[in-house]
Amino acid sequence: MHIIDTRQFSREFMDKIFVLAEKMRQIVLSRQPSIILKNKKMIALFHEPSTRTRLSFEMAMSYLGGHFFSTPNASESSSASKGETVEDTIKVLQGYALDVIVLRHHEDGFAARAAQASLVPIINAGDGKNQHPTQALIDLYTMQEKFGKIDGLRVAMVGDLAHYRSIRSLCFALAKFKKITIYLVSPVSFRIKDDVKNYLTKHEVWFLESDNLQKVAPLVDVIYQTRIQKERGIHFDNTDFMINKKILSLMKKEAIVMHPLPRVDEISLDVDEDPRAYYFKQAENGLYVRMALLKTMLVRE
Ligand code: CP
Repeated sequence: MHIIDTRQFSREFMDKIFVLAEKMRQIVLSRQPSIILKNKKMIALFHEPSTRTRLSFEMAMSYLGGHFFSTPNASESSSASKGETVEDTIKVLQGYALDVIVLRHHEDGFAARAAQASLVPIINAGDGKNQHPTQALIDLYTMQEKFGKIDGLRVAMVGDLAHYRSIRSLCFALAKFKKITIYLVSPVSFRIKDDVKNYLTKHEVWFLESDNLQKVAPLVDVIYQTRIQKERGIHFDNTDFMINKKILSLMKKEAIVMHPLPRVDEISLDVDEDPRAYYFKQAENGLYVRMALLKTMLVRE
């Protein structure tokens, strides 16, 4: 099984991951050594920078008694820099009797291309502007943890919706749940792509495009904020799309603010002290969800 695109997830699969993630949390909190992934080996090839994704995958293997071998800066430090194709890299790595390969790359569709060539399970840890499926599992688990259910939630996605892989993955994944409402809040030039809108329509998700965060903030259970991805050459004035005390004052008492992180200036620092600031809990959940995912993929029941 490869993990490439959230459209591949069933409700059953996601529910299983969420239940298991809760058990994984207990393993981490107990600090008891686990041997669930004893003798299992993960290679992580990251061609783009990462803090959360790479380190939480590594920590996940470590907490469960497995081994990991990581190549950050893979575009420079691996033989990709000499022109080796991903297909050749995968053929070589699978000769090392490993159990899973985690890939991050700037090219859309890179993980799917790798999966075509691989007998070893591939996990897409982010491919360009396309998808970040493990982030979506974390996002949904965080919503499930907070609200006890995902069906019926009203979610505002905010910022550069045109180029954000976490947004694409989360929209596709939310469409698997019932009675979801999505407010797509962005400058007009950064609206979400038509393939996502078509998918939401097909799956009966009610959505509305807006450029007015102040109007949307009181209506939703979740505000999912994003940053300007300067590393992809993207620039716009995000003054009207920032989360600050003013936006908090408009939100419901039980609503939450999420963000896949890293944050730059799109959530002001004084929001952190509000109990509705959920982005650091969300990042912590990344460890439990990735532990659950690795166990599901690597251990036969
Ligand atoms: N959310 C996320 O993918 O963070 P990193 O880029 O630090 O892995």
